[in-house]
Amino acid sequence: MPVWFMRQAGRFLPSYRALRQKHLLFDLFFTPDLAAKITMLPVEELGVDAAILFSDITVIALALGSSLAFQEGPLIKPLFDLDRMKKESTFDLKPLEKIFQTIDLVKERAEVPLIGFCGAPFTVATYLVEGGEAMLLEMMKKEPKAVHHFFDLLCNLSIQYLLEQKKRGIDAFQLFDSWISLLSKEEFQEFALPYYRKIFEKVDLPGILFGRSLSSFLDSVIDLPCALSLDASISLQEARKKTTQTLQGNLDPDLLFRPLEEIEQKVRSLKEEMGQDPAWILGLGHGVKPNTPVLAVKKVVEIAKERSR
Ligand code: CP3
Repeated sequence: MPVWFMRQAGRFLPSYRALRQKHLLFDLFFTPDLAAKITMLPVEELGVDAAILFSDITVIALALGSSLAFQEGPLIKPLFDLDRMKKESTFDLKPLEKIFQTIDLVKERAEVPLIGFCGAPFTVATYLVEGGEAMLLEMMKKEPKAVHHFFDLLCNLSIQYLLEQKKRGIDAFQLFDSWISLLSKEEFQEFALPYYRKIFEKVDLPGILFGRSLSSFLDSVIDLPCALSLDASISLQEARKKTTQTLQGNLDPDLLFRPLEEIEQKVRSLKEEMGQDPAWILGLGHGVKPNTPVLAVKKVVEIAKERSR
């Protein structure tokens, strides 16, 4: 089975931190040579089976005419209030050209597949809307039409953004809807699911869906044309009973802080459980945490690569 990790190029890697000390995060994302180099670090240093484009889900703010900076998290100006959500109806991919150039560079250098990505409308909107997720959830109740208008725009933008990534050579993509854990079943059906279908169908590349607690919406996503990234709240065997989709996961990111023997034992038992499954990607239930020991991540890759006995 292949192995890669969400946030595999990040603060837990000393080589990344060294670059990060010299540059602003925004500059790392928008300097193709640096972004391509960071994209390749986990392939070179950990031996993972795919490179994940070093970028962020919030970069599409630039395509909507806002500015983006990073402090504790993404900082977008101006944010969208209800009025702007209703009015905005165009976007321009030109400010994202550096990201496409990063893909060009990675494709020249990499011998492994490259995974591109973008955020799904709901999660991206939690960063773009004034008042954040609390305000967005309120608007979904009081102004559903305006929210759908805005999500339609984000959805179309994401499709065009991913199609350009595809043109430049990505081999697969992930769709991140991290914050769906905040949605009720009904809200998920109305404000998340229809957009996923449209994105996976229109982009038409192998796609992987990630959301916190995605397993709680499992019955709704088993007929989407995509792989599912699951966390440890469901066993992959149990998920397998419900779907033939490719499954990705599902180690707990906190496991990587445990002693190496314990990690080894857990990964081996997951491999025992899923090793014969033809459609399984070994990975984590969420991203690698910033202070994760590099040796722990390497251990997981090493065990993944062992031939089954
Ligand atoms: O290897 C990789 O996966 C790196 C590429 C990547 C980044 N962000 C780079 C990044 C990916 C796939 C993302 C996705 C992303 N960004 C998501 C969805 C996945 C998830 O984590 O749930 C979300 C919600 C974001 C938004 C975001 N970006 C936040 C909230 C923050 C600040 C908090 C944090 O995690 O640091 C970021 C910054 C960010 N994006 C970093 C990285 C490596 C931190 C880098 C640093 O501070 O040096």
